[in-house]
Amino acid sequence: GSGLRHRGRASGVKIGTAAQPAAMAENGAYQAVLSQEFDSVTSESQMKWDIVEPARGAYDWTSSEALVRFAEANGQIVRGHTLVWHDALPGWVANGTFSPEQLRDLLREHIQTVVGRYKGRVAAWDVINEPIADTGGKLRPSLWMTALGPGYIADALRWAHEADPGAKLYINDYGVEAVNAKSDALYNVVRGLRRDGVPVDGVGFQSHLALSTNLTTLDANLRRFADLGLDIAITEMDVRLPLPATPAQHVAQAGLYTRVLQACLAVARCVSYTVWGFTDRYSWVPYAYPGWGDACLFDATYQPKPAYQQLRQLL
Ligand code: XIL
Repeated sequence: GSGLRHRGRASGVKIGTAAQPAAMAENGAYQAVLSQEFDSVTSESQMKWDIVEPARGAYDWTSSEALVRFAEANGQIVRGHTLVWHDALPGWVANGTFSPEQLRDLLREHIQTVVGRYKGRVAAWDVINEPIADTGGKLRPSLWMTALGPGYIADALRWAHEADPGAKLYINDYGVEAVNAKSDALYNVVRGLRRDGVPVDGVGFQSHLALSTNLTTLDANLRRFADLGLDIAITEMDVRLPLPATPAQHVAQAGLYTRVLQACLAVARCVSYTVWGFTDRYSWVPYAYPGWGDACLFDATYQPKPAYQQLRQLL
């Protein structure tokens, strides 16, 4: 084969993408590109709490099963996303009136149930998603932080490890690609966890980028996390462009995609490079950033863009 997944094999870096249920239901081009190009598939929404347990005790594994089965049928690993987040909570959790003790029990049960169900079938979990506040170098004052205090992070990692000792456990965040106040805060959290013997295996750098993102210190930043003895993963790469985007902007976008892959290839502990969707047809970007889009490797009709061509050349 000649997809990214085959070209990348020699480097040892797994090339991944997020995949969505609606997209996977599309027969033909989407599934063909997904299986030919990628070693690793991340559940874009299929394993979030609001999807797996929309009403208390009423689990729905339909879309998570579809994703895991697709990956297994195509020799791909699964990155499970995500167990502890302030977002994508079902209403019964977000708007419930639970005591801290009850919330702790709910979180433990959630992690045990989801990780236990996919034991041995999910290679890596984004256990903790977006724990750092955007400013101030503090933990984000999420439902979990507010009710349980900073110990929720170590607790969640320990529960996940008990449920599947073989899975690699990650903390994942955005805006932490370069050395800055937010990545400093993440670094201090992770260093503390390692010091305390908490089972954390890796740090995920989401990498939702714009052309203006300054990546001068990307390499040094990845290296300092790797030097803590951790795996490094690029977990949600995309490069949004202001619409309508020009050919020159697509060339600049290709430069950022390759810049980040180069940084990953240069750090021995960087194990995977995952894009947050591979086609503009299903990208989250136009919804999250109105006026922006064209963020992916393939356009909305699955034509490869300069970013795809340049990644191929690098691999
Ligand atoms: C996004 C999905 O892509 C959307 O489809 C969904 O509506 C909202 O969540 N950081 C994360 C991801 O960790 O879970 C988010 O995914 C994008 C930002």
